[in-house]
Amino acid sequence: MWGGRFADGPDAIMEEINASIDFDRHLYRQDIAASKAHAAMLGKQGIITADDAAKIAHGLDTILSEIESGMFTFKRSLEDIHMNVESRLAELVGPAAGRLHTARSRNDQVATDFRLWVRATIDTIDAALADYQKALAEKALAHATTVMPGFTHLQTAQPVTFGHHLLAYVEMAARDRGRFKDARKRLNESPLGAAALAGTAFPVDRDMTAEALGFDRPMANSLDAVSDRDFVLETLSAASITAVHLSRFAEEIVIWTSPLTGLLLLSDRFTTGSSIMPQKRNPDAAELVRAKTGRIIGALQALFTVMKGLPLAYQKDMQEDKEGAMDALSALSLSIAAMTGMVRDMLPDVARMRAAADGGYSTATDLADWLVNTLKMPFRDAHHVTGRIVAKAASDGIALDALPLEAMRAIEPRLTKDVYAVLSVDNSVKSRVSYGGTAPKNVRREANKWLKALAREG
Ligand code: ARG
Repeated sequence: MWGGRFADGPDAIMEEINASIDFDRHLYRQDIAASKAHAAMLGKQGIITADDAAKIAHGLDTILSEIESGMFTFKRSLEDIHMNVESRLAELVGPAAGRLHTARSRNDQVATDFRLWVRATIDTIDAALADYQKALAEKALAHATTVMPGFTHLQTAQPVTFGHHLLAYVEMAARDRGRFKDARKRLNESPLGAAALAGTAFPVDRDMTAEALGFDRPMANSLDAVSDRDFVLETLSAASITAVHLSRFAEEIVIWTSPLTGLLLLSDRFTTGSSIMPQKRNPDAAELVRAKTGRIIGALQALFTVMKGLPLAYQKDMQEDKEGAMDALSALSLSIAAMTGMVRDMLPDVARMRAAADGGYSTATDLADWLVNTLKMPFRDAHHVTGRIVAKAASDGIALDALPLEAMRAIEPRLTKDVYAVLSVDNSVKSRVSYGGTAPKNVRREANKWLKALAREG
């Protein structure tokens, strides 16, 4: 394809390091769509004949069906998807094929293809995240009143509802979707027609090709169009943050399904056994979601490193943008699907969650608040008094609400039996009605709000 001035073919190692077909073959749909748009534009502008344009379009359709039916042979000697398609086109339609590459370069071609591919992938990820949110919101609604310990430092802090905990991840996924949406909006401009780097002297209509490919507009600067991969960096950043969110929940699943806590049961469908220890139920899917974050963040770091310091315009370094991004985004899709499946099937052990919340003096703050509200104590003093009461209960080895009133009064004589009402975990969560708080009433309202919004979306 480019051998005119060469007497010798490439060394085998040259071919090996240069070829990108093993991964950019995934761009075949976008490559063919972009070539069809380009050929139609060349025909309409009279840059090629209408007859050639029609032959090219027909040939490209044939290639698409050959690839989709597995009949197409990809050749590494033809380097990349662009040349594999064009070479087959020549076999199919003869000399007309040689006119397709008028007023374009592989530089604007690959930038166009990859933008289209990333855009389609963002749409798939967005739909998957919406489904994940739905699974979380449904489970949250079912567990609006399920009390569990809330943790800070992984120490029992205050009681929360399991539904409230799940809704925290719905919010994170909403921001993740927002980041993908922003990236999609900015990437949706067409590089096609920038040609190698300087634009072209042919009377191309870049608005026409941009519109045909669903882009909002053509990119305004030809050098920028072929040079930047910020759209990949941005998408991988959004992917990395999403993966970090998923990995935190995955880690909680690992902790909560451990017999040490026993707060959660995963379904058989999302656990594996051990080949030697028959009692085991391993949360492999959660562990792998936690781990896949590594390769997703890794792809972002790798591309940052590739792009840093690259002069304008196209450099072959940029061919390294695809493999990592494709791997990372497919790992993310799989992770989202696995989390969604685990959430749909997971069964919290309601009794153990309650016992864990009851057991860890999680209502100590409620006691301190009672002292503030009822006895008008400054919060700092109330905190101190409560600390002494908790210490007494802990040394007696009993829960706060099992401590006799006299024992409490020995520490603060003004305490009355009314205090027991705030020592129950149910009353504690019920009282947290501040906006964004954990009260079952809030959880029901928020879960329903999300379910309604998600239903409206699609
Ligand atoms: N396979 C190349 C890539 O992925 C296509 C662009 C090649 N352009 C060039 N001037 N060699 O970046």
